Amino acid sequence: MKSLNRLRRTLLTTAVAAGAMALPFAASAQAPIVIKFSHVVAEQTPKGQGAMKFKELAEKKFPGRVQVQVFPSSQLFGDAKELEALLLGDVQFIAPSLSKFDRYTKKIQVYDLPFLFDNIEAVDRFQAGPQGQALLKSMTNRGLLGLGYWHNGMKQMSTNKDKLTRPEDVKGLKFRIQASDVLEAQFRELGASPQKMAFSEVYQALQTGVVDGQENTWSNIYSQKFHEVQKTIAETNHGVIDYMLVTNAKWWSGLPADIRKGLTEAMAEATAHANKLAADINQADRKKITDTGKAKIQTLSKDDVAAWRKTMEPVWKKFEGAIGRDLIDGALQSNK
Ligand code: LMR
Repeated sequence: MKSLNRLRRTLLTTAVAAGAMALPFAASAQAPIVIKFSHVVAEQTPKGQGAMKFKELAEKKFPGRVQVQVFPSSQLFGDAKELEALLLGDVQFIAPSLSKFDRYTKKIQVYDLPFLFDNIEAVDRFQAGPQGQALLKSMTNRGLLGLGYWHNGMKQMSTNKDKLTRPEDVKGLKFRIQASDVLEAQFRELGASPQKMAFSEVYQALQTGVVDGQENTWSNIYSQKFHEVQKTIAETNHGVIDYMLVTNAKWWSGLPADIRKGLTEAMAEATAHANKLAADINQADRKKITDTGKAKIQTLSKDDVAAWRKTMEPVWKKFEGAIGRDLIDGALQSNK
């Protein structure tokens, strides 16, 4: 009798527990899919605008079923952490600059080679072609799936010195760089000393003299106020800052098929929107910097540009093996 009672009690407890467990599942069937989208730049930048557009479109497509939370300006994590957070499932979308993936695939280093792409149109052609598209899927074995590319623009070089026209002008200076081995090699070729640093720390590092200079797009320079703590910005256009919109491959494949399809469409539209804005935002921000009168914008002669190009050239040879000659040739082809 005693053991029968115990059995009844056990059955009852199990039933109650099962009921209790069933509740959250029933509730979660109604709950929206929450997508956290984290990034490190300001809202008015091309990436900031792209993320907002994606939120608007995704929520319009799936009212009550999908909720997108955008966290700009490193609010959640600095850029050193966001890739790890994505892999851990703490966020669902990020769009790091292409320079920040070199831990996951060496091939992507192609985007960082100095003076490889003539302009953002060439970058766009390369990204749209088979090699650029294949790179989106090149990190799936590491859990990262690229869904598209977003443009920012070409990089300019800035320092706290008055003269910045020739490569010799940066000799011995300390530069903040993104976490990229190619960029490290680039500054070493210039005789400067590169320091990898998260984006959110750059303003203070420039202000306090921890570093003397940095390289970035007009949009990032203006929105982070780097021009207020730098004397000269040389219009070098020596490289590109573009983004890969990435998601956690496992999370993505676990989504209901209709949601995945709808989000893909929303993403394509947000991409077109951000890419259309990018050039205008960069040109407008260049002008705003001029208008503040705070940092001098230095344009370069053909001869100056040739000197920068020649000094940085050995970087190509150094990384050719890891990147693959085919990718470099493909990128060069896109200049035509
Ligand atoms: C940087 O770290 O300088 C940029 O990659 C930031 C960004 O996301 O544009």
